[in-house]
Amino acid sequence: MANIVIIGMQWGDEGKGKIVDLLTEYADIVVRFQGGNNAGHTVVVGKEKIILHLIPSGALYPEKKCVIANGVVIDPMVLLEEINELQKRGYFTQEEQLMVSEDAHLIMPYHKSIDLARERLKGAGKIGTTGRGIGPAYEDKMAREGIRVGDVLEEEVFREKLKSVLALKNVFLESCLQDKGFDFEKVFQEYWGYGQRLKKYVGNSSVFVNAQIKQGRQILFEGAQGTHLDVDHGTYPFVTSSNTTAGGACTGAGVGPTKITEVIGVSKAYTTRVGSGPFPTELKDATGEKIRELGREYGATTGRPRRCGWLDIPLVKDAIRLNGLGGIALTKIDVLSEFSTLKICTAYQYRGQLLEEVPSSVRALEECIPVYEEVPGWKAPLQKCRRFEDLPRETRDYVRRIEELTGTEVMLVSVGESRDETILRRNPFRRDVPPTR
Ligand code: IMP
Repeated sequence: MANIVIIGMQWGDEGKGKIVDLLTEYADIVVRFQGGNNAGHTVVVGKEKIILHLIPSGALYPEKKCVIANGVVIDPMVLLEEINELQKRGYFTQEEQLMVSEDAHLIMPYHKSIDLARERLKGAGKIGTTGRGIGPAYEDKMAREGIRVGDVLEEEVFREKLKSVLALKNVFLESCLQDKGFDFEKVFQEYWGYGQRLKKYVGNSSVFVNAQIKQGRQILFEGAQGTHLDVDHGTYPFVTSSNTTAGGACTGAGVGPTKITEVIGVSKAYTTRVGSGPFPTELKDATGEKIRELGREYGATTGRPRRCGWLDIPLVKDAIRLNGLGGIALTKIDVLSEFSTLKICTAYQYRGQLLEEVPSSVRALEECIPVYEEVPGWKAPLQKCRRFEDLPRETRDYVRRIEELTGTEVMLVSVGESRDETILRRNPFRRDVPPTR
């Protein structure tokens, strides 16, 4: 039996949605454990393209259970809309398919206002958040002022909590952020209504997931965002407010580390970032523009153009160390097919020193100059390749060079956006099947 964590190795948008959707075939349950609707996971099934923000990508398999665990921050309006949208398309018809943790924190209207007002006041120094209220919701969780899913199911408990929290938030919004406050009764009625519509899905997800593990079911833990947006290990302060690294799966789902069999990292064959923050291999020229257009690099959540650049090996190696990764799923390699030569950043130059690790200070990272190795491109379409040996020699060399530089196996290569446009060299859920090299 295997319980696998899937993590983004860069700054999010690595194509985790596709990899989770693909590997869900071998899992029984898919668990989201952190983040909120700042995430946007794009899944393509046949001609249909579905963007999921909160519901795990496993939703598209009717027989699989999806869990939104305690570590996620939930905007209930977005969750209800997403359920609705999936049902309209014929998915998610059984209510047992979804479980929402009673301990997950809710994103409240004041969280969104605080997020937006703070970004506005920061001006040029803004983080470039998604504006979904993620940071303020996690702040309240840590400040012990959060409202959890279970709270909105008990009228008196919810009334009391909201009353005391909203009084403080209104002072903060009106006096410090020069914004509008919220009417208690309006917020109460709105969220009470959401609670009533969601209550059929609510339960103790840690008890459920652990019981399923005991019964031998296979679990896939679906990470959101990426390693370098982790609040502890990312390019702080240009990060999100949760632990996006593998440890977050344990705290965010209430599952002990001994129950995790393997962690798989997803990395694009190049690098992208949305929002502010250092990005050493960023290309602010025609090449960066070409990657953006070929890779359709626009945010799934906000539609913002993503910043694009060459593959950054120090960033990838950091992700391997921070997550204890057993394998890399390399995505969007087909996007590089138009280039006659490619560059791989193998290290950084920083004030005359050669750095092979990402420095922890963003000031230092901003000064880092990438050291590039130039490799030949393949100038051939890859979408039809299904086995590793079907790939042009230069593509195989590119993948092998990544394995050499990182000391980690590339166990999957994605050559297009559909499920079948994938070369699966080793399946982490099928430990009985030997890998193909
Ligand atoms: P927040 O998570 O909305 O607070 O935004 C903090 C930073 O994380 C910003 O730079 C966002 O652009 C980035 N971010 C948050 N979620 C995602 C994601 O799913 N993909 C890529 N970047 C993200």
